[in-house]
Amino acid sequence: MTFSDTLRARLETAQSVCVLTGAGISAESGVPTFRGEEGLWKKFRPEELANFHAFIRNPDLVWEWYAYRRKLIHEVKPNAGHYALVELERRVKEFTLVTQNVDNLHRRAGSKSMVELHGNIERSYCIDCGAIVEELDIDSLTKAPRCVHCGGLVRPDVVWFGEMLPREAFSRAEQAARHCDLFLCIGTSAVVYPAASLPYTAFDQGAFVVEINRERTELSTRAHESLLGAAGEILPQLVSCFSHQEGNTP
Ligand code: APR
Repeated sequence: MTFSDTLRARLETAQSVCVLTGAGISAESGVPTFRGEEGLWKKFRPEELANFHAFIRNPDLVWEWYAYRRKLIHEVKPNAGHYALVELERRVKEFTLVTQNVDNLHRRAGSKSMVELHGNIERSYCIDCGAIVEELDIDSLTKAPRCVHCGGLVRPDVVWFGEMLPREAFSRAEQAARHCDLFLCIGTSAVVYPAASLPYTAFDQGAFVVEINRERTELSTRAHESLLGAAGEILPQLVSCFSHQEGNTP
C-alpha cells in the first residue's frame, strides 16, 4: 500500500501514539469478528448472550459460549498485525495500546503498555464475594462454575452490554487519547461506546487520526486517513515508517 506524504510525515514525527484495536485485528489469526461482512459471532448474537440478565437466566449457556470462544482462542496465534504493534511500542517514546479485545493475543504477542477495556477472557470472578478466579479449567466445563469460597456463581471477567467499563482502565485510555499526537483505530466497527468515543477525543485535542479497516465505518469520513485493507498487511508497512526514537530500546 502506498501512503500519502502527509501520513508518512505524521508517522515519522509522532512522539505519542495511542492505538485502539477491535476484533478485526484478530481476524487474521482466525478469531471471528462480531460485526462486519465476515462477522461469525452473528449467529450467537453477542448482545443476547453477553449481558448479566442472560447469565442469571441461563449461566450454563453463557459459559458454554465462553468455553467455545476460549478454546478457539487457545488454538490460534497472534498475527503480523499484533506483532507490528509490539514493534511500534519499541519505536515511539510514548505508546498506549487500548484494546476492546478479550482474547489475550496482544499480550501473547508481547505488547506491554496496554489497557484492556473490556476485560480478559482468561480471568473470572465470583459475582457474590468478588474473588478473582485465575485458574479455571473452563475448557472442560459443562456447567457454570461455583466459587470455592462462597458457592456463588463465577462469571468471566469481561465487560458485558449494559455494564460500566473498569473506571481506571477507561481513564487511562482517555488520557492516552487526549495526549497523543497520532491515534490509530484498527479493526473496530467503532460503534460500541464508550470505546468508540476515543478517536473523537483524540480529534478534539488535535491528534492525527488514522483508521485501518477492511470496510468503511462511521469513523471513516472523520478520520484524517482511512486505510482500507487487512491490518496484518497494512500495519507492518505502516510501522516501518516510524523512526526509532531516543530513549527507546530498539
Ligand atoms: N483487518 C482490519 N479490519 C478488519 C479485518 C482485518 N483483517 N477483519 C475485519 N475487520 C473489521 C471489520 O470490517 C469490522 O469493522 O473489524 C471490525 C470488527 O468490528 P466488530 O466485530 O464490531 O468488533 P469490535 O469493534 O471490536 O466490537 C466492539 O462489541 O460485541 C462487543 O465487546 C464486544 O469488544 C467488542 C465490541
